[in-house]
Amino acid sequence: MTMMDVINKKRLGQELSEEDLEFSFLGYFRGTVPDYQMSALLMAICLKGMTDEEVLKVTDLMIHSGEVLDLSGVDGVTVDKHSTGGVGDKTTLIVSSIVASLGIKVPKMSGRGLGHTGGTIDKLESIPGFRTDLNREDFIRQVNQVGFAIIGQTPHLAPLDKKVYALRDVTGTVESIPLIASSIMSKKIASGADKIVLDVKVGKGALLKTQEEALEISRLMKKIGEHYGKEVDTMITYMDIPLGTSIGNALEILEVMKILSNEENNYLVALSKALAAKMVQLGLGISIEDAHHRVEESLKTGKAYQKFMEMVEAQGGNIGGLRVSAYTKDVLSTKAGHIVDMDAYRFGKLSLELGGGRKTKEDKIDPKVGIVLKKKIGDDVKVGDVLCTLYVKEPEYEPKEDITDYYTMKKLSGSKKQENLDTI
Ligand code: URA
Repeated sequence: MTMMDVINKKRLGQELSEEDLEFSFLGYFRGTVPDYQMSALLMAICLKGMTDEEVLKVTDLMIHSGEVLDLSGVDGVTVDKHSTGGVGDKTTLIVSSIVASLGIKVPKMSGRGLGHTGGTIDKLESIPGFRTDLNREDFIRQVNQVGFAIIGQTPHLAPLDKKVYALRDVTGTVESIPLIASSIMSKKIASGADKIVLDVKVGKGALLKTQEEALEISRLMKKIGEHYGKEVDTMITYMDIPLGTSIGNALEILEVMKILSNEENNYLVALSKALAAKMVQLGLGISIEDAHHRVEESLKTGKAYQKFMEMVEAQGGNIGGLRVSAYTKDVLSTKAGHIVDMDAYRFGKLSLELGGGRKTKEDKIDPKVGIVLKKKIGDDVKVGDVLCTLYVKEPEYEPKEDITDYYTMKKLSGSKKQENLDTI
């Protein structure tokens, strides 16, 4: 067998055998298949797809290319959560605090941000002293004692996926349903939790653009989960506009604390409650209505807030030392109108530009910078109104473009204000 045979087979839309997949994927992992041939195969997969059997095989190769975390030392049921990523997405921190406060164990391995989306680990590292590199024993001890711990993904977790993902990132082969499903699920299975809730994002700011794609990937990820005896549930949620009111690492931690203190009521809060309820339903084996009540109770009584603080302290974080930039710049609207849309992708890129994300893996993040959104969908705006506030590195910073263009506005017709879409 040669790599050319495998590429041609997939180019013609034929199913690859286990031997074909081992030869190509493991060959790439071990260095016997070069980047250019693997890229050609990945592109053929993007264009022709994969059968469920092929996806299961690739996922298995990825899982067993590294270690599978043994969580048998954790007392009780473990529930994990994954989001396919978005701008301002701090749901992991909110949801894990709520779920852990209700007695469910949440052993969480999270990633860093790349491109226009932020990563949970970067957000946590804006808290001085916070350690995301606990060793196995300390991780499991903390999950048992506190109920949850959040650490960075180790290089030993599905390293084949890491290598293939890096190649997909630069060869236009990220947006493939079978490849995304196997990539995400290999890491989730290797992370060892018993049950998994997946937040599948769809929209302009997400990898998946249509409902159909989101439904198909949900089906596939559930099937992979079942194959490994894991209970998997999915929620399809929107990623057209930034989630919540803050984008940027320290700013997002402050927003998490506000939400856990019941000071906000918007789409992000509703989304976090819905995801938490799904995890509680799975973890405690109760009805979704019951789970919703418990989630509300945890927030109302301050238990979720306390749990977040406990986790931060257990991982060495000094929340009192959290700082945002002292330099701010209000963005004034250059147009008048009724906001009907906001471009999550452009806000993500702006946060990156301010220094809140990485353009390359080596870049250092500035945790203090970011954006606080002051106007949202449904608001009426006059020329000169503050649309958002930028937290910047230097006082003389000037945006390179008119940020008003990130908002789609309809001309104001009469005085009646439409329903506020950000409050559900
Ligand atoms: N996130 C992943 O981990 N893998 C993908 O392929 C896409 C998003």
